Amino acid sequence: MQILITGGTGFIGRNLCKELVERDHTVTAMARSKPTESLPAGVELVTGDVREPTDVEDAIEGQDAVYNLVALSPLFKAPRGAHDAVHRQGTQHLIEAATQAGVDRFVQMSALGADPNGTTEYLRAKGEAEAIVKASDLDWTIVRPSVVFGDGAEFVDFTKWVSFPPMLSGLWWPYITPLPGARARFEPIWSEDLVGLLAEIIESAEHNEQTYEFGGPETMTLADIVRLIHQAEHKSARILPIPTVLAKIPLAIGQHIPGFPLGSDQGRSLDIDNVTTSNDVDRFGRDPAELESLRAYLGGNKR
Ligand SMILES: NC(=O)c1ccc[n+]([C@@H]2O[C@H](COP(=O)([O-])OP(=O)(O)OC[C@H]3O[C@@H](n4cnc5c(N)ncnc54)[C@H](OP(=O)(O)O)[C@@H]3O)[C@@H](O)[C@H]2O)c1
Repeated sequence: MQILITGGTGFIGRNLCKELVERDHTVTAMARSKPTESLPAGVELVTGDVREPTDVEDAIEGQDAVYNLVALSPLFKAPRGAHDAVHRQGTQHLIEAATQAGVDRFVQMSALGADPNGTTEYLRAKGEAEAIVKASDLDWTIVRPSVVFGDGAEFVDFTKWVSFPPMLSGLWWPYITPLPGARARFEPIWSEDLVGLLAEIIESAEHNEQTYEFGGPETMTLADIVRLIHQAEHKSARILPIPTVLAKIPLAIGQHIPGFPLGSDQGRSLDIDNVTTSNDVDRFGRDPAELESLRAYLGGNKR
């Protein structure tokens, strides 16, 4: 198949490019800029912006399938309206161009909790994008993964950044990690497990018009994850849970400080679990318990 991956230069996109090339597909990755690291061998790059309908039309021409993996990270503050422009409007452009070009399969990468009435701009834009995909005449599949880990993932580095505060770590004795959102639950899934599932989606019509929630083998709180990350660096951690309301106040102020990386939506996210209602990996013949765990990955026991 001729396959376009929008956002194909990103963390999950690169892994998916490699997986699809290995399955003998012809893969084109689309992103706004040339990546600093080269793409897997055999993958073509087109530069373009999903906010521009003509860029999207040019990239989709001649493709049999499209994966939409474009992302604006929810971990950092975004300019007002940016999630809407990239996730909702970008998806609208892709669906229109894919319909026009007669694309056979469309896979939309969404997120757990995506909802037009969600509490963050990211979740609302993702929810509206899902509605656009479902209303189309294409053969579509929507995927909502929990947080994804693997080489090059943002999540582990971000968690380190917020939980090893460089300004504070030297001041606390014994070593204490103040952690807002400590009880929020996650079901981390390994990028390589995820892209295998994504690749299978376009191989069978049984996945048409399905929304799948994917998680890994373990449900863990943010505190559990921080402890694992500290252990992997041979440090012990004493977590001091901070009530989210206390974190939300500085984040609400940060919302209005130009250049400050976090804002109100990051505060709201602290109250949101990131777990599946039912882990759909079993619908692909996978036993969740056999997937790679974050614990094994951080411990250097990669499969
Ligand atoms: N990573 C996770 O834990 C996770 C969890 C749940 C859901 N997801 C979803 O999975 C998908 C992939 O996530 P990821 O972690 O791989 O993201 P990522 O590493 O941040 O990659 C984002 C990609 O989108 C491209 N992009 C951004 N804005 C664009 C635009 N306006 N037009 C065209 N390309 C654009 C980026 O390249 P340029 O910047 O060069 O344009 C890059 O290739 C996203 O839909 C995300 O919401 C991810």
